[in-house]
Parts: sequence; C-alpha cells; structure tokens
Amino acid sequence: MESFEYTAHASRVIFGAGTLARLGDEVTRLGASRVLLLGDRAGRSLSALGSLTVAHFPDVAMHTPVEITEQALSRTDGVDCLVSVGGGSSTGLGKALAARTGLPQIAVPTTYAGSEMTPVLGETAYGKKTTRRDPALVPKTVVYDVELTLGLPVGLSVTSGLNAMAHAVEALYSPQANPAVDAFALDAVARISRALPVVSARPGDLEARADLLAGAWLASMCLGAVEMGVHHKLCHILGGSFGLPHAETHAVVLPHVMAYNASSPAMPRIAAAMGVADAPAAVFDLAARLGAPLSLASLGLAEADLAAAAELATAQPYPNPRPLSAAGVRSVLGEAWRGERPPGRPDIGWLTDEVVASFGGDPRLAQLLGDLVRRLHGFVADNDLTEDEWKGAIDFLSRTGQMCTPTRQEFVLLSDTLGISSAVDLLTNSRSPDTTPSAVLGPFYVEGPPSVPSGTDLAEGLPGAPLRVDVRIVDLSGQPVREAVVDVWQSNEDGFYDVQLPELEGPVLRARLRSDSDGRLWFRTIRPSEYPIPDDGPVGQMLRATGRHPYRAPHLHFMINAPGFRQLITQLFVAGGAYLDSDAVFGVKPDLIVEFTDSVEFTFRLGADHA
Ligand code: BEZ
Ligand code: FE
Repeated sequence: MESFEYTAHASRVIFGAGTLARLGDEVTRLGASRVLLLGDRAGRSLSALGSLTVAHFPDVAMHTPVEITEQALSRTDGVDCLVSVGGGSSTGLGKALAARTGLPQIAVPTTYAGSEMTPVLGETAYGKKTTRRDPALVPKTVVYDVELTLGLPVGLSVTSGLNAMAHAVEALYSPQANPAVDAFALDAVARISRALPVVSARPGDLEARADLLAGAWLASMCLGAVEMGVHHKLCHILGGSFGLPHAETHAVVLPHVMAYNASSPAMPRIAAAMGVADAPAAVFDLAARLGAPLSLASLGLAEADLAAAAELATAQPYPNPRPLSAAGVRSVLGEAWRGERPPGRPDIGWLTDEVVASFGGDPRLAQLLGDLVRRLHGFVADNDLTEDEWKGAIDFLSRTGQMCTPTRQEFVLLSDTLGISSAVDLLTNSRSPDTTPSAVLGPFYVEGPPSVPSGTDLAEGLPGAPLRVDVRIVDLSGQPVREAVVDVWQSNEDGFYDVQLPELEGPVLRARLRSDSDGRLWFRTIRPSEYPIPDDGPVGQMLRATGRHPYRAPHLHFMINAPGFRQLITQLFVAGGAYLDSDAVFGVKPDLIVEFTDSVEFTFRLGADHA
C-alpha cells in the first residue's frame, strides 16, 4: 500500500510569452517597491521594472560562491525585494541573499536549470559545495517568459534541458516519490525529450520553447518536492570540488546513472514517457544527437580524480534505488569519463518521425503510409531485427511478386494466410451486421462465368457426391430480390479449381445464375471437399516453416450483385467438414456453416447500397 508525505511549496507562477512585462506588477503585489536586480542578462528586466530598481548586481557565478554572495549583500541596504533574472547562478544568488536577509524574491529563469521552485540552496566555500533546504528559500513568485529563452544558445538549451530531465528522472525513484510528483515527472520527461530535438533544430520555435520551459517547470517542482539520488550527488561533487560546469556535467552523467539504476521500476515508466525501449541508452543517444558533451574527460576532469570523486559521493549514505558502493560509483564515473554508450537498443523514434513527416498529398494516403511506417519501424526496433532477417524478408516478398501471374495470385494468398484479408472483411462486416456475412474472395474467381438457367448441373458428370443447391435472396425486410446476378464457383472432387488445371478447356464448376421473381434460383453440382491452397511457392514455404497446414475447410463460393444492393462476396461451409477450426485463410464464420446432405438451402440477406 502506498504511503507518503508531500509538501507543496507556495509560489505563484506566471507562465507565457511576454510575461516579463508583468514583473513590475508582481513586485508591487508583494508590497515591495525597491528592487535589487540580480543577473547579467537583466536588460529587459530593467525596463520592465522601471523606477522599481534601486540597484543592479550583474556578477553572478556558478555554484554560488560565498565571496560573490557577500559582495552582493553589500548592495541590499534599503532594498525590499530581490529579483533574479537568468540561470541557476542568478536564482542561487537570490536564494543566498534571501537566506541572509529574509527578503522576498522573484525569480525569472532564463534556462531550464530548475532551482526556482525549490527550497534548496547549494553554495561553495573553499572548494566545497554545501546544500541547505529551507521552505523560506522558495521564491515567492516565478515569472517564466518563453520569449526570454529564445536567445538561449542551442548548446546550453540542450545541456540545461538534460539537467531538468535529471530532476524528473531522480524524482521518480526518490524515497519520497508520490503520485503527484510522478505525474509532474513523467510529463516533464515527455515534454523535455520531445521538445529538445525541435529546439535544437529551430531554436526560435516558440511552441517547442514553451513545451521545454513547461517541462523544466514541472521538473523544478519535482526537485523541490522530493530528495534527489546519486546523480545529483555526483554532479554536486564534480561541480563543487572539481570545478566542472553545471549543466554539461548533468548532461554527461545522467545516462550513466540511469544505466546504474536500470533495474528500478521507474526506468520503464521513463522509457514509456520518452516513447523508447531503453531509457538510459535513449538519453545518451539524445544527448549525442543534439551535440551535448558525452564524456567527463571532454569537460576537463582528470582520470586520476575519479576515485576521489567516488569516495566523496559515498562518504555518507544517500538514497538511491540500487545500493551504492564506492566501487559501483567509481565504475559509473569511469563510464561517464570515457563517454561509453550504455547498453540498450538505439531509439529510432526520431527517424520514424522524419519519415512520417515526409508524407504529404492525399491525407488518407499520408495517414495510412505514416501509420504503416510507424508500425514497421516499431516492429524492427521491438524485435531487434538483423540485416540478414530483413534481407530474408525482402527476398521472400520479391519471390512472392515474381510468382504472380494472371491465374496465380501469390500476394492474395499471402494476405489470406496472414489473416489480413479476413481482418479487412471482418471490419467491413461489422458495418452491416444485419446482412449475410461476407467471406474472402480468394484467388480463383474468374470474371464473366457462363450464364446458365436455374436447374443446370454445373458438375456435368464430374466425379463427386451429387448436391442440389437452393438459394433465396432477400433484402433486409425479407422481401425477395429479383434479377440478382449470382456467380458461383468451387473446386472439383480432388480440390482443384479449373484455373489450376491447364489441360482443362473452358470454365468448369463455375457459372452465373439469376434469381426469379421470388428471389430464388437453384442448381446441381457436387459436394465440395477440403483442399490445400497452392503451396508450391513462397507462401507454402512460409506455412511449412511455421508448422501450418495449407487446407481450406470445404466450401462453395458466391458473388451476388443486384441493382440497389451492396455486392455480397461470401462462402457457405459444410457443417462437420474438415479444417473448420483451422482454415488456412481464417475465412470460416459461424453464420456461414450450414448442413449439407444431398441438398443445401440458404437465404442470403443483402444490404442496400447507399454509396
Ligand atoms: C479459396 O477459397 O478459393 C481461397 C481463398 C483464399 C486463398 C486460397 C483459396
Ligand atoms: Fe475456395
């Protein structure tokens, strides 16, 4: 059973494009009028605040060094509100000053770092980073202006976005995880992973920037609500003690920590939110594709420092889904230092999206092709298809095409034996449940069979058990349908259709009849028997390779056309016949199974043609 504690921090959030214009009102709303503005990107904020700004301190620095905080502190005399504009360094300085002065803060984040929704402050003094947590540190108001992020360079957008993703990832396996934070985190993962490639390709895309910033806000709430795991610990140490850059370090370390925690139940949820198979590998591939740094070595960390970093990270116990040992953390750091790709299938979703987006023209065609490509790409990825397997598939399809002639339709056989013809048929049937069910056409129908009067013997002395067939054709109200054109065809006693026997001249066991004024017609023939579908081609090989037999249950074919009615193509199956429950083309329907003695009667119900 779930049990949890959850503290929501009270902060007011203003999100949108151009929201910076409301900054002055937000200061006034806090009852303040004398602002110390923090940050080096504060130009537009200065004009938004007008005369409310009494001092400006631009010299923010990463990891909030206490020396800088002390310099800024000397500017707080007479100030009644702190406004920080910029990335984590500006927000951090705002919090450090709030901690020392108790002044209310407004944060205007311009990156995705996410400290603005948290009660956490990390400061560095003498090369060591310390962290404190106090609800009073949470900014009173956060103004997210998407327009301010438009100019954020692509490189920083990517690393900062991955930094935000790390908050969401670690929230999902935090000991304090709860349904509210999970929902924020999963939405953050989905938004960040889908928006980053768009922002990277089109940095000025306002929609994608908004998606990313909203994801960063959600991730920031996760960071503020629950304790983070080993990833954040490692990044704090690498930044605070080894001087590594904040966002880049997050981007490099995240996939390796995720791989270490791969057995956490959070990981499949993250993968699902990203729409990928393996989350750690997918985060690495995303970072690689977007040009983020991939190794701690490339960030300037010396290999000799790895052991010390691992020691520091495990000096105190820390929550993490997989138990932490110095050796374990050392190996995570080694992989991150070398920039090794975590094991796992590559994400091909970006390729799928590119192919799907390439289809224009007729909307229905684009929809069908796009969906087909999505499923085929999914099939390739989910089954880890090898090149040899795909070559084999192409060869199979080529031979299927090469086998086709006007009388041998191997592709129809393939569609039938894979149940696709029956699937399309079932869908069609479901749209007209009151009519006689249809059944697959099969490859042996020949246009324009010989017209014969009722009472004709179609078997003309062929061997087989004699059969009389009486048919009635009615509409949905039971009224007779007259002058309906009814084509019938079937195989001989050995299971062959005439088109399969080259020595035969002319049509055999096929005919065209018409219904009389009472909707009736009848004919004589022989009782149909089970037969194998042609299995001397690729489809036969497929059946044998998969342990399937090629037999169809015994049946008669009908194609019925009448003016004003929808065409009906169907079959009647012999009750008690062989293969009724394992028909090679999945074509048997219970409503079409009828008693055949030496005669058979059946009433077909046609639906009106509204087309
Ligand atoms: C047939 O009933 O004639 C048939 C249907 C599908 C595949 C092969 C034969
Ligand atoms: Fe048939």
